[in-house]
Amino acid sequence: MTDCRGRATVKTPAAARTGQRFPVLSAAACALTLIVGGATAAVASPAALTGVERAETAIDREYERLGGTDSGLGRPAGAETCGLRDGGCYRSYEHGGIVWSPATGAQPSWGAIRDAWAAHSFENGPLGYPVAGPACSDGICSQNFQRGTISWRPAAPATADLDIDNPENTAVVVNKERPLNPEDYAPEDLLSVDGQLLRAETAEALKLMQEAAAADGVTVRAISGYRPFETQSALYSGYTSQYGQEQADAISARPGYSEHQTGLAVDIAAADGACSLQACFADTPAGVWAAENAHRFGFIVRYPAGSSAVTGYAYEPWHLRYVGVDLAQAVHASGIGTLEEYFRLPAAPGYPAQ
Ligand code: DAL
Ligand code: ZN
Repeated sequence: MTDCRGRATVKTPAAARTGQRFPVLSAAACALTLIVGGATAAVASPAALTGVERAETAIDREYERLGGTDSGLGRPAGAETCGLRDGGCYRSYEHGGIVWSPATGAQPSWGAIRDAWAAHSFENGPLGYPVAGPACSDGICSQNFQRGTISWRPAAPATADLDIDNPENTAVVVNKERPLNPEDYAPEDLLSVDGQLLRAETAEALKLMQEAAAADGVTVRAISGYRPFETQSALYSGYTSQYGQEQADAISARPGYSEHQTGLAVDIAAADGACSLQACFADTPAGVWAAENAHRFGFIVRYPAGSSAVTGYAYEPWHLRYVGVDLAQAVHASGIGTLEEYFRLPAAPGYPAQ
């Protein structure tokens, strides 16, 4: 079933109980929505509105589009609240909410899918904001988010398919609590930069970053990229023999647990190799430049200083992780240093007991 704008409509739990489709939109309600939309547009163009006004307008429009007080959301249950991550705003209703962000627009959420989103810390968690309303087909309802999908079928809990769980995604989170799945994952789209293999998108981003650094008179060299399970295994064994297991675990991931195995991580060095793979790399021109600029190209410094209780690793100013430009910019702007904290995931200081 589709609504008056051709968008799929779905059942809320309340509507499901009564056997009704939600939202129930009459021709009159459709007309009203369009009139409201037209009138709003006539009052002020989006560009003339502040962020809060844009959000309020968009949330109100979405509520009217869904049927207003006749919709399954019910009546407003509070005023609009702004100040959410990435400039977002939301409004609560009796049976759910409508959330807006500049990147994703106004989207409704309710029922079991909303509960699952809440269990993942709403927009502050790995899913981010919804990018569409819920839609149902063949008895399964699902809603797409910035970094994943939540699905629900009657008489079963909603399940979340998270980008952070899949090594194919640039948002994947790999740490001592979160091995690659599968453990012997190997990417297929590898390209070489400075003789180091990286996923194609990461390689292209690194090349752009190197050009921008060069334009500022700074050389940024790649010295380690994709490392297969076996390579990581040999590296970790070498460190263990040399330093003992505790120290090895502070500086090297065990095989199956390294970001290097995703093809999304790259270790960088200065042209002269000064302070290579040492904390003092942060003070070299390449280290300073990367810390200030890497996010513009989709990279974050994955193991910041003072974060070993979260990441499980000592400071690695040379280890850049590609997460895509949008996420890297958002993490940088948030001032939150680690992916674990940014997505409100458990800290991963060590491996689970065997
Ligand atoms: N040095 C980083 C933690 C790795 O081995 O993946
Ligand atoms: Zn590294």
